[in-house]
Amino acid sequence: MNVLIVGNGAREHAIAWKLRQSRGVGELFIAPGNAGTAALGANIACSATDLDGLVRAAREHKAGLTVVGPETPLAAGIVDRFRTEDLPVFGPTKAAARLEYSKAFAKELMQRHGIPTAKTRVFTNPDEAKRYVASASVPLVVKVDGLAAGKGVTVCTTREQATEAIAEAMETKAFGAAGERVLVEECLVGREVSVFAFTDGRHLSPLVAACDYKRLLDGDAGPNTGGMGSYSPPEFWDERLASQAMDLVMRPTVSAMAHEGNPYTGVLYAGLMLTTDGLKVLEFNCRLGDPETQVLLPRLQTDLLELLLATVSGRLDQCAVRWTAEACVGVVLASGGYPGEYRRGVRIQGLESVPESAVVFHAGTKPGSGGAPVTDGGRVMTVCALGASLAEARKKAYEGVARIQFDDMHYRRDIAAVAAGAPRTPRRMDESPRFGENKAQGVPGPDRTRCA
Ligand code: AMP
Ligand code: GLY
Repeated sequence: MNVLIVGNGAREHAIAWKLRQSRGVGELFIAPGNAGTAALGANIACSATDLDGLVRAAREHKAGLTVVGPETPLAAGIVDRFRTEDLPVFGPTKAAARLEYSKAFAKELMQRHGIPTAKTRVFTNPDEAKRYVASASVPLVVKVDGLAAGKGVTVCTTREQATEAIAEAMETKAFGAAGERVLVEECLVGREVSVFAFTDGRHLSPLVAACDYKRLLDGDAGPNTGGMGSYSPPEFWDERLASQAMDLVMRPTVSAMAHEGNPYTGVLYAGLMLTTDGLKVLEFNCRLGDPETQVLLPRLQTDLLELLLATVSGRLDQCAVRWTAEACVGVVLASGGYPGEYRRGVRIQGLESVPESAVVFHAGTKPGSGGAPVTDGGRVMTVCALGASLAEARKKAYEGVARIQFDDMHYRRDIAAVAAGAPRTPRRMDESPRFGENKAQGVPGPDRTRCA
């Protein structure tokens, strides 16, 4: 079967890499893809949001399945469009994807169905939001309702910060229509973990968990990014947490969506905070995570094509989904300057000398004129390795990283370090507060906040 993959990140390269291992896969097409996916299939010059172009590509290349990586085409209704055209597609419909692209929708669904989450108020009027904040206790979190490329959440330690965040979203309109509604929520403290399940709308696969690192610099300092690394499974993850996440969050959410007439199919991704008061949902995403996918798919023992087809056809109960107990660590290599301005077209060297024990998933790369790839984005690649332990996986991943060079290359040196038992990088004095940090209330200190 030919398969079309939509997207151009390391997540999509990892999906292509795993699908290449499926016996049932014929030709792979990736729209638009990158230099890494070009080695596994044919890249198609069509953006991930050009729905007409994607329908044409799926028909022209006789794709028996289209797999959608990023959230933007899902929010634009790619699944509904493909279904209308009778083209098999993996992912949630536009109505179901609201779980990600409307935080207010997700929050209200959780409130209706008793799914544990932070206490929240939703506002459509900036003055009302500011009045509420004026009498609320801090810290609190201000979130824009819609998609904001990971930039729409502000953890505020003062009321002034919260008022500013509200004004930026609702008055300056820094996030456009995404900021028309704003959520003000209780600040949760604990360890963060992401959990994933495949679902056909009625059945869910066993959960798999990962931790990611959103800050640019070691010790969780610096600005937020799309993600600088990831590992799976988290060292603190166990059967008890997995059943709680399944019973309290994942199953009730899928069942609530079905009951309310928006059956959810695809991958459901919940960002959780493990608080002293139990686990709580921070957010839902309607797809696989990036960079989490890069550390999850190497652990998947089930044939990915069979799993995707079982999900699409409502037969997930007949598919045994297995994850190896081995650990996987992924380190993101970024262009200097990211997440701000950075150069493109920089030659990447050393890829051929990366040991076989590591695998490199490309993101912002494109084939260069001499054959060697050049940089073409902020996050350039994720270097991943499996190991019997997190420490071994980490060592192998960084051995891979050490072989790759490009001008101004930046990466974090502490991915999975604490989890693997390495000493923690001292926190820099000039860094801004961590998400969720709240010493005032006698909650766990920095060593216990977030899984990094
Ligand atoms: P989100 O996009 O909703 O996952 O938020 C991005 C990040 O903000 C999360 O990964 C958390 O680190 C932080 N965050 C979001 N909501 C809260 C909350 N209610 N309390 C504390 N931190 C939060
Ligand atoms: N790793 C965060 C995301 O994929 O949204």
